Amino acid sequence: MNTNSRKILITGASAGIGRATCQKLLNEGHHVIGIARDFSRFPCSDSRFTPITLDLEGIDTLPQQLQAVATEHNDIDAVICCAGRGQFGSLEEFSYEQIRSLIDLNFVSQAYVARAFLPGLKRQQSGTLIFIGSEAALRGSRQGSIYCASKFAVRGLAQALRDECSKSGVSVSIVNPGMVKSEFFDELSFTHGDDEDNYLLPKDVADAIALIINARNSIVLDEINLSPLKNVVVKKKG
Ligand SMILES: NC(=O)c1ccc[n+]([C@@H]2O[C@H](COP(=O)([O-])OP(=O)(O)OC[C@H]3O[C@@H](n4cnc5c(N)ncnc54)[C@H](OP(=O)(O)O)[C@@H]3O)[C@@H](O)[C@H]2O)c1
Repeated sequence: MNTNSRKILITGASAGIGRATCQKLLNEGHHVIGIARDFSRFPCSDSRFTPITLDLEGIDTLPQQLQAVATEHNDIDAVICCAGRGQFGSLEEFSYEQIRSLIDLNFVSQAYVARAFLPGLKRQQSGTLIFIGSEAALRGSRQGSIYCASKFAVRGLAQALRDECSKSGVSVSIVNPGMVKSEFFDELSFTHGDDEDNYLLPKDVADAIALIINARNSIVLDEINLSPLKNVVVKKKG
């Protein structure tokens, strides 16, 4: 039994980095509340896992939905904002609607999740808030204008909250991975190389997240950047 067992909420829990993080945290004895739209990719029967089906892109109704979760689970110790998707191309290939919906999911919904759960964390005078950024939060690059903007925004939010929340005993961190072998690339026209030093595994990012979760209360790991040894981008055929 883990005597430091915590109750942790994570978005993007059904696949990739979020799913690997759920698995790791459950293995460590934590209670995990997962948010995603479709849990068929993560059929988890662990009694310490609570899946909540929610579309984070439904920005208009999101505040009430998140408030309901925060009211039902008023003893959450840590929140991990992981849900997101990639969409790449030159800016003029995006419709106005596509610009809005990518920013809504990758940034606005993360800010809403933080807004909903921070009061509870602050009330407890302890807690951990973790954002999943990206290497795209560190450096803008071609074809990535809106994705990079969404991730820069998340990083700005994380840095400001890190400063704002420390007096309340809440630590705020951001993890910025390079290319991770996950479902993220399923709908994209490019992917990482096939060699194992061309990608991170979701588990690698989960390990970094767990390091933050399990750190002593008075330590903040402000930012963790991790990337594959070799950065190889491969255009998909067809
Ligand atoms: N893979 C990479 O190379 C990479 C690199 C750097 C940063 N990241 C970031 O890491 C995070 C996770 O990516 P990943 O690689 O794990 O991707 P993934 O395997 O595609 O997983 C994405 C997760 O986000 C959830 N999600 C997507 N849209 C959602 C919505 N509208 N409402 C609720 N949940 C939604 C998905 O669940 P449902 O589909 O079930 O809703 C899924 O659980 C993202 O923020 C991504 O930007 C990824």
